[in-house]
Amino acid sequence: MVCVSNNKSYLKSQHLKIIGQKTLRGKVKISGAKNSALVLLAASLLTDEKIILDNVPLLTDIEKMGNILKNLGVKLHTKDHQLIIDSKNISIQELPYELVNGLRASFFCIGALLTRFGEASIPLPGGCNIGERPINEHINGLRALGAEIIIDRDVVKAKLVEKKSKLFGANIKLNCPSVGATETLIMAACLAEGRTVIENAAREPEIQDLCQMLNKMGAKIYDSGKEKIIIDGVQKLHGCTHKVIPDRIEAGTFLIAAAATSSSITVSPVIPNHLEAVLNKLEESGSKIIIKGNSVSIKGHKIKAVDIETAPFPGFPTDLQAPFMALMTIAKGSSKITETIFENRMNHVDLLNQMGSSITLKDNIAHINGVKKLRGMTLVGLDLRSSAALIIAALTSKSVSYVYGLEHLDRGYENFEQKLSKLGIEIKRQITKSIISESNYHNSTLNNKDVTEIRAA
Ligand code: UD1
Repeated sequence: MVCVSNNKSYLKSQHLKIIGQKTLRGKVKISGAKNSALVLLAASLLTDEKIILDNVPLLTDIEKMGNILKNLGVKLHTKDHQLIIDSKNISIQELPYELVNGLRASFFCIGALLTRFGEASIPLPGGCNIGERPINEHINGLRALGAEIIIDRDVVKAKLVEKKSKLFGANIKLNCPSVGATETLIMAACLAEGRTVIENAAREPEIQDLCQMLNKMGAKIYDSGKEKIIIDGVQKLHGCTHKVIPDRIEAGTFLIAAAATSSSITVSPVIPNHLEAVLNKLEESGSKIIIKGNSVSIKGHKIKAVDIETAPFPGFPTDLQAPFMALMTIAKGSSKITETIFENRMNHVDLLNQMGSSITLKDNIAHINGVKKLRGMTLVGLDLRSSAALIIAALTSKSVSYVYGLEHLDRGYENFEQKLSKLGIEIKRQITKSIISESNYHNSTLNNKDVTEIRAA
């Protein structure tokens, strides 16, 4: 594990020093998908038998989810990238706010706990600083399955309707294809009485991964990966061994970094069709892409401006919008990037402009005029994917950059700087002896010109 997730000061004292304008060369090993692993951990609560998860990424978000499970009495045994989860002796209790705060996926436990134990209490979740992130779809769906839910002082309290011993299958139509709500409802429906049909379900690969593991556990889920998912409830689920799918967002981030630096790299293992929308846009913007089995190679070339609009899978993923914007800042021509999933996912725009890009933002549409070069500077990433965007921008920049905000980066990228360093980038995690003041930190572009000055802050 790269860092201690609950020690904010420690994290805030770390930064990456990045020397720009180098090219990347070689192969990158892609880790297991964060968003899959998180929901698979929640799904392990559905059985009292052991679940063995392989290819689990070592990330602070996973560590946090593990702590949530431990708080419920789950025994976790970790060896490298394998997690053995034993949920035999769970005691249902309200999860402490400090544990769920900042981890959106913590809320996804509600469906599993409710359906297995008949009750669950979870504080409203946090997550990345990218928008309001409501939970109405989760709650409406669980109510349709027969749950009674109240929100009492920011704690969601769910239980079975009086005198009922189970949830009951229902037809649920989501208003928006929420990934988390689809996952919550699939887990809840697995042990419900009768058939549940979820319409307008999300189709993200992580949902298919969840359904595959649940079916190995004895669930009866049909048509995952389609807009209409059918689940026939079963009495009991049992243990299984499952390997987490590769992280398509991590793979996409490295491919975009290669495109931005005119580099040639190969990412593997990946499931290429999980990346189709991204690969199409990379090709459109001038890169050459070669797919061979479970690897994708990219040869970066002159960057052409292209428009993107984020959309639910199989559309362009919102999680790669920020990294792709970093690429477009140095493209030839003008591009338009439209964020349609989250209302506040443009934290990177001001920072990229500080580095010399020319982006104007109107509502959720960024208009970008490509510039020749960005300049390195000291920056603070404000959320997970915008931190990755800043690092890509720093790779392309003249001179040195110092990127702070690694508590966001470490949530979702395993050994990011080691992987970049293996590709030939001069990048180093450094620890500043004294802590930057909160006000300076939240300024997001520190006025300080170099680390020495930051030390004095
Ligand atoms: C998941 C991913 C996140 C990704 C996002 C969209 C995890 C842990 N996180 O987040 O990385 O960016 O999918 O691909 O898997 N919405 C509602 N009501 C709800 C739920 C969601 O209106 O009850 C809206 C949200 O505000 C947002 C949209 O639906 O505008 C998509 O959110 P959702 O798919 O739920 O994202 P998450 O599951 O939280």
